[in-house]
Amino acid sequence: MIALGCDHGGYSLMQEVKAHLEERGLEYKDFGCYSEESVDYPIYGKKAAEAVASGECERGIIICGTGIGISMAANKVKGVRAALCHDCFSAAATREHNDANMLAMGARVIGPGLALKIVDIFLDTEFSGDERHVRRIAMIED
Ligand code: RB5
Repeated sequence: MIALGCDHGGYSLMQEVKAHLEERGLEYKDFGCYSEESVDYPIYGKKAAEAVASGECERGIIICGTGIGISMAANKVKGVRAALCHDCFSAAATREHNDANMLAMGARVIGPGLALKIVDIFLDTEFSGDERHVRRIAMIED
């Protein structure tokens, strides 16, 4: 199950992400927002993050205008490692090295073609499990 959260700036791109997940047969839970009416991104970043932190969802995808505010909000939730990615290399690296459990993107930064490619890489790349990465992730949690 993938937790989804966005604000008005990310709403349109999130509709494309949802259609893409459906095409791939992947289940998601949409924590809003549900229109392009102006809302506060921390509400939706935190809701999606709490679903990941609780184990209700294995991964999360969050989108705002820049991806910055919503990733800041999500990363305040203990156990969440939200990575802001606007390129394919970072999406793969943050899974391999950081075991990121949430992907943040900015809908005003990248287009849907690249965003959906980043989503696929984020969902399909496994954590390396290397000792040094396990150790460093544990240090974040302290
Ligand atoms: C909303 O206008 C915008 O500030 C928000 O989507 C995001 O970019 C914040 O970081």
